[in-house]
Amino acid sequence: MITTRKKIESFRKKRKKIFKGTGETGIEKQHKKGKLTARERIALLIDINTWQEINSFVKHRATNFGMDKIDIPSEGVITGVSRVRDKIVYIASQDFTARGGSVGEMHAEKICAIMDMALKTGDPIVLFNDSGGARIQEGVDSLSGYGKIFYRNTLLSGVVPQIAVVCGPCAGGAAYSPALMDFIIMVKNTSQMYITGPQVIKEVTGENIDGENLGGAIINAQISGNIHFVAQNDQEAIEIVNKLLYFLPSNNTEDGYLNANQDIIWNEDNFLNNIIPDNPKESYNMHKIIQHISDNGDFLEVKALFARNIITGFSKINGVTVGIVANNPLFKAGVLDIDASDKSAEFIRFCNVFNIPIITFVDVPGFIPGVEQEYGGVIRHGAKMLFAYASSTVPKITIITRKAYGGAYLAMSAKSMGTDRVAAWPTAEIAVMGAQGAANIIFRKEILTSENPDETKKQKIEEYQNEFSTPYIAASRGLIDSIIEPKDTRKYIALSLDILKSKNDIRPPKKHGLIPM
Ligand code: HXC
Repeated sequence: MITTRKKIESFRKKRKKIFKGTGETGIEKQHKKGKLTARERIALLIDINTWQEINSFVKHRATNFGMDKIDIPSEGVITGVSRVRDKIVYIASQDFTARGGSVGEMHAEKICAIMDMALKTGDPIVLFNDSGGARIQEGVDSLSGYGKIFYRNTLLSGVVPQIAVVCGPCAGGAAYSPALMDFIIMVKNTSQMYITGPQVIKEVTGENIDGENLGGAIINAQISGNIHFVAQNDQEAIEIVNKLLYFLPSNNTEDGYLNANQDIIWNEDNFLNNIIPDNPKESYNMHKIIQHISDNGDFLEVKALFARNIITGFSKINGVTVGIVANNPLFKAGVLDIDASDKSAEFIRFCNVFNIPIITFVDVPGFIPGVEQEYGGVIRHGAKMLFAYASSTVPKITIITRKAYGGAYLAMSAKSMGTDRVAAWPTAEIAVMGAQGAANIIFRKEILTSENPDETKKQKIEEYQNEFSTPYIAASRGLIDSIIEPKDTRKYIALSLDILKSKNDIRPPKKHGLIPM
């Protein structure tokens, strides 16, 4: 008879073996590559003594290619649930040291199990991706496993925040799980993400490129815009996850802004009264404005390296998480283009679905002209941005700091697009276009026929600038709600957020709108 004591001892041994994973050799290999192990990543993320591991005894059922004799600790992925900054979070962490963290049928089932739980309890998920992809020995079972993950990624979309950390290889179809999630963090030098690798590309198109230049963190962050954050190492990636979780609600039923502090705290901020240069052609630092209106100057920028002409990210104002969208005069003068439209549309939709109010800062000279942009579908992409703003029902507050011209003025959450509060600084220039362009068109004849065309042109531009490049025409038509001093901006936003708590924006019932793709 096996005694109870023996049964417990046997269980302890089995558990120890599983927790040991592939042991010292595996750990050493992983560390040599500059990576943490799957368990170290979890340990660094979670609040101490809150981890509940799930399905650690799961085994694969493959028999082909000698797999029946192969034991894969934790099936190559550690899954469980924990508290992170006191929030319940479901976590899956692929163990590259266990058969390359390859995804077999049961590996996928483990990930699906925590996704199902996250859906039931309404809590975020974090997936650490460090895997050689579909477990080749398991063939179509492995593919089906991926399908099940993708399906759940889609079910969870807009219900709980989904965060992917790519901290190793993530190639082929495997890349579509992170791509279906809300935020992707990649680790510089140790992670790569692409659909077809350098070898296949060489065979098919003859192009020569290495893995880092094809799908390294910087490429995905800066060129393709596939990812949201770049981390220097695993530790920094985990810090970013932490920060995201701090700003985000646990699910789409949480209305963070309803629980704002009753006492509105603000200081007059004279720095902001001096930030706009006298010369309208000079630029200034929009990030500084964002820092000045954010609690403790804390701003988590999202997609900081992609489409830098627009800034997106999270702050808190008076304790309420807000999403900020702002033109960046320091980069391409803050124009809108295809990438800026895509980046902001994605961000706006995230904010809306998770009840995060959207604050927009406007200094936009227009959509950038160019054949490449037109051929690339700037109409379709720009429409995404308009659609995203107009269809969002969360509180929306716009502050026009300087230029707000033409279609781009509307695209940046103008009053007529359903925005709840629009305020302009006295430096705002709300017009169909800039003074130079406008004067050239409407005073063309006068300029050409004058004795001194250059002087007349200068005069006309100045005339237009003084009379029309101001906030007062828009204000006279009620197209902005208020003109405010820059120093009062934080107060204006905080008061508006408080008032808009009870906002009720009911839209006609439909299955879903047709956002231009
Ligand atoms: C089974 C795999 C594996 C895989 C790695 N391993 N990838 N086992 N299926 N996909 C195993 C290796 O055999 C090895 O086992 C261990 O993991 C570590 O791999 P190494 O090659 O030694 O590591 P490294 O040199 O760092 O190279 C990492 C790698 C390479 C670049 C990821 O392993 C690789 O190219 N793997 C294959 C990638 C691939 O083609 N995957 C399928 C893609 S198709 P031992 O026993 O030696 O420790 C796909 C389709 C998904 O994913 C579609 C979804 C819709």
